[in-house]
Amino acid sequence: MEKIINLDEAKKLILECKNLKQLNDLRIFYLGKKSLLNQSMSKMAKLSPEERVAFGKYINTLKQDLNYLLDEQKNNLEIIELNERLQNETIDISLDGDDFSSASYGIIGGIVDEICNIGIGIGFSIAEGPEVENDHYNFEMLNLPKDHPARDMQDTFYINDNELLRSQTSPVQVRTLLSHNGEGPVKILCPGKVYRRDDDDATHSHQFMQIEGLVVDKNITMSDLKGILLLFARKMFGEKRTIRLRSSFFPFTEPSVEVDVSCYNCNGKGCNVCKNSGWIEILGAGMVHPNVLKMSGFDPKIYRGYAFGIGVERIAMLRYGIDDMRHIYSNDIRVLSQFKKER
Ligand code: PHE
Repeated sequence: MEKIINLDEAKKLILECKNLKQLNDLRIFYLGKKSLLNQSMSKMAKLSPEERVAFGKYINTLKQDLNYLLDEQKNNLEIIELNERLQNETIDISLDGDDFSSASYGIIGGIVDEICNIGIGIGFSIAEGPEVENDHYNFEMLNLPKDHPARDMQDTFYINDNELLRSQTSPVQVRTLLSHNGEGPVKILCPGKVYRRDDDDATHSHQFMQIEGLVVDKNITMSDLKGILLLFARKMFGEKRTIRLRSSFFPFTEPSVEVDVSCYNCNGKGCNVCKNSGWIEILGAGMVHPNVLKMSGFDPKIYRGYAFGIGVERIAMLRYGIDDMRHIYSNDIRVLSQFKKER
């Protein structure tokens, strides 16, 4: 009887298969519709009954043998492929993980917290006011009537004739005084965002953070102001610091001063941080103008007060040696990650 397939050769080919795809091609070759085996079935009809029985047996055995060999090799290959996959996909759980922590310590928020905490420790309370403010509170009640030339000191974002983005936190002085109905003492710190029509550069921003301080009571003098400023300056820049007051002008304080702290870098000798002057300007301050007290319902014959306004970005830049204010706002993780600490 004619042999259709050399089983030994088939076995050799099957065992040589390297992957399931090759093996499947072989299965199609030997057992598929167009295979020799399948085609030879059609010859059955031409055979004598005895031959047909023998041939049928032969074909069946051949099919069984081929299926057995193919299945066995399939099993082997599947085990090999599984092992390879397990090998490739192994995760080394002993490796360090990536640092996915996204939040960091806010530079400005950190300074605000620090200054407010110092203030709370010496009896200040925290006040707040709206960022969209009325001309009335931002200027007029602060002794800056319409057309006052000092309005130019702060180029303001107006929303309409009356509403504006506050250019300073000083309107919170007015709002706080009004809420006290002419009765002291008043002792507040007000942190908040302010807005000015400045072009952003290394030392200017159209939005920045101020902390306003206001104290009004019966026997307040300029020495009280100086004492409190010295305390803040030392807490912020070190216990060895001294301060000096230079005369200045703000419409809502009289007298007004600009406050310098002795340079923390060179201790007053002169260096590049203090531009060789030994002093660094940190804030504006003064004694509350009697007009401001009067307009807000306080009798300036009985009450006196002092106020100061701290620019938080400036303090942050000095404290951390940041040379460009835009670093504070750019949310660059390389910058922010340097300020990670527990709040
Ligand atoms: N409001 C002033 C400014 O923004 C700062 C200041 C506050 C000055 C309080 C004196 C007293 O420039």
